[in-house]
Amino acid sequence: MSFINENFLALQDSYLFSTIAKKVAKYTEENPDKKIIKLGIGDVTKPIVPACLEAMHKAVDEMGTEEGFKGYGPEQGYEFLRKAIVENDYKTRGVDIQEDEIFVSDGAKCDCGNIVDIFAPNNKVAITDPVYPVYLDTNIMSGRKVIYLPVTAENNFIPELPKEKVDMIYLCFPNNPTGTVLTKEDLKKWVEYAKENQSIILYDAAYEAFITEENIPHSIYEIEGAKEVAIEFKSYSKTAGFTGVRCAYVVIPRNLKGYTKEGKEVALNKLWNRRTCTKFNGVSYVVQRAAEATYSKEGKSQIKANIEAYLENAKIIKEGLEEARFMVYGGVNSPYVWLKVPEGMTSWEFFDKLLEEVNIVGTPGSGFGEHGEGYFRLTAFGTKENTIEAIERIKNWKW
Ligand code: MLT
Repeated sequence: MSFINENFLALQDSYLFSTIAKKVAKYTEENPDKKIIKLGIGDVTKPIVPACLEAMHKAVDEMGTEEGFKGYGPEQGYEFLRKAIVENDYKTRGVDIQEDEIFVSDGAKCDCGNIVDIFAPNNKVAITDPVYPVYLDTNIMSGRKVIYLPVTAENNFIPELPKEKVDMIYLCFPNNPTGTVLTKEDLKKWVEYAKENQSIILYDAAYEAFITEENIPHSIYEIEGAKEVAIEFKSYSKTAGFTGVRCAYVVIPRNLKGYTKEGKEVALNKLWNRRTCTKFNGVSYVVQRAAEATYSKEGKSQIKANIEAYLENAKIIKEGLEEARFMVYGGVNSPYVWLKVPEGMTSWEFFDKLLEEVNIVGTPGSGFGEHGEGYFRLTAFGTKENTIEAIERIKNWKW
């Protein structure tokens, strides 16, 4: 008899975005003539930028030659990409990260989910609520106790430090789903808390490229002492449009320590490296060359233009919703706009009404957690044309 991991039975039946996709597919089948505008899952619409495409084509051609062919690559990622990451994402911000502290991967979702492998199941975990469901679900799967830190309009979407001692803390800023940010001073408090409590911060910075304001940290390592307490996740998905290409990386500083039951220190970098070599064969050469191209002069400017266009969509959504008298948050340093649903309606009721009456797909706040109830998320990753049309429909809607 093979026994199952019963922790899975504690999960909701279906992953949030799969539930939404199913609902939308059903509605589309029943209403084939309707033009549905999807501002639900944060999937990009702009094609891969020319600099990355060119790098991919070149790498594909190399693979067809005897001299250029690559088989298994280094599990941690090719040196050329790790070097480019160090130089561009960290050195430019005055952060000292070394190549062997970087692990290139096939996505931040996978990294955030897989990282739990190196932590004990009896660690107490703090997550913000609402939250990107992957942090919660993967900890439920491995049977950890989870503490929720509400982030709502009442606390300005700034989570309070946990009242009790926790071992692992997930922070995502700019935040998914609320689109809000922490200042350097806010984040410093978390680094101090983690130091005092020997906790590890799992910092998801997948949306840092959307930051437009000063004093908002792009990396947790901009905060002094963070290298002793934090792991950072970064992704090319939302910047270079790699949601389908798949490439990201995780940073685990060499001096970041976890503990055995006996209190002996163990380097987390070493554990993650061991895990990576065992369970992963690296990201394809072609994809890593494309990721490297995001740091070329052309790549940088092409990506910047895409991000600016998505931020312009966010502005259109934010201002349009405000005009339609919604309370709106986020959307300034983030591709996500978080709105309050009309009084007396649940997030899912609003989802259904929006889909059925104006044919727009968003994400119900309660899907991200109990404290997301009464809120709703729209993404700025649609096309400009569809974004404008969606907001016009909402403005003219009698809800
Ligand atoms: C989202 O919509 O929250 C994201 O696209 C999900 C993800 O990045 O996996």
